[in-house]
Amino acid sequence: MQFNFDETPSRRDTFSFKWQKYAGQDIIPAWVADTEFRCAPPILNALSAKIEHGNLGYVLPAQYQPAIEAVQRWLKVKHAWNIDPEWLVWTPGVVPAFNIACKAYCEPGDKVMVQTPNYPPLLAAPKINGLERVDIGTVTIDGRPTIDFAELETQAADPKCKLLILCNPMNPVGSVLSQDEIARIATICRENQVKLCSDEIHCDLVLDASAPHIPAGREEALKDISVTLMAASKTFNVAGLGASFAIIPDRKLRQSFVNAAAGHMPWVNVLGLVATEAAFTLCDQWHNALLDYLRSNQQCLVDAVNNIPGLSVHTAQATFLAWVDGSGLNVPNVQKWAESRGVGPSPGSDFLAPDFMRINFGCSKAMLEQILSRLAGK
Ligand SMILES: Cc1ncc(COP(=O)(O)O)c(C=O)c1O
Repeated sequence: MQFNFDETPSRRDTFSFKWQKYAGQDIIPAWVADTEFRCAPPILNALSAKIEHGNLGYVLPAQYQPAIEAVQRWLKVKHAWNIDPEWLVWTPGVVPAFNIACKAYCEPGDKVMVQTPNYPPLLAAPKINGLERVDIGTVTIDGRPTIDFAELETQAADPKCKLLILCNPMNPVGSVLSQDEIARIATICRENQVKLCSDEIHCDLVLDASAPHIPAGREEALKDISVTLMAASKTFNVAGLGASFAIIPDRKLRQSFVNAAAGHMPWVNVLGLVATEAAFTLCDQWHNALLDYLRSNQQCLVDAVNNIPGLSVHTAQATFLAWVDGSGLNVPNVQKWAESRGVGPSPGSDFLAPDFMRINFGCSKAMLEQILSRLAGK
């Protein structure tokens, strides 16, 4: 079946977070990590059917069997992971979930390790929960950014460090952690009694077919010390419906998570459950077509950006986000430079890397071409 990713609905005047920021200005938004694409038809049909039914009253996610089975199916087929439905805890977003993990597995004064650069709400989580953040930097090896393992080993040895929050695939650098890297993380966590919360929201956006995603909780050595966070939201562009889930195989860890969430976290909304169910059962072809489209966009972007004096970018293994190094521009503010050219990326400073900017290429080719020609000053 053919899917048309070239035609995207206009989001101007829709209160889209991404488009609202530059409303009234001639700046193309390329920041927030959602895509411009229309949702896959089965998702829209499922949502329409639910609306048509006419009742949007309470639905307890833990009893909504079709969505639970859809998650089971997706993880089995796409990630070779057989999960027990008991391990699944629905959360109305991944951000609340990693905050709950901080609350559940740490006590005031404890430390939480976070790789940097990283997604701003993830950087903010330790402090919000009265904890100290310990930054673990990124090193680039053969052009591929990855975790600074030497730093991770050193910091994890501090008995105050109780939790590591990973983002895999990494946002913003787009690397997918390899089997060896996951094994190293498992060894470091086990040796130091550190629990792992793995934000894998971008796991279905792997563009490099030779770098399969490895879910943390699938690893035997991490099964009893990890929480894996996932969602259909990024891949299927349903982030506005606030539906995600944690997979927590260990009973005690799961109970602590559920207890920490009690009274603070609302149930996942019913439309989010319906969308997740459709995404994970009826959209395999759409998903494959999306990945092909994103690969082609990524190639255009990498070619064009590396031809702009002062900018450079690597081909990331995953995500629809490009982490562009603007240090060669020699300008005081890379974000302002991009905005002056009519493009609004995510500022690198939000991720703790002010010389960079993050450009979202989850858009039509026509929109991407405009972004690229503006950056080139054409
Ligand atoms: C790494 C990462 N985690 C979480 C989120 C947001 O998750 P949610 O909207 O489900 O809270 C994002 C969105 O950009 C993200 O990039």
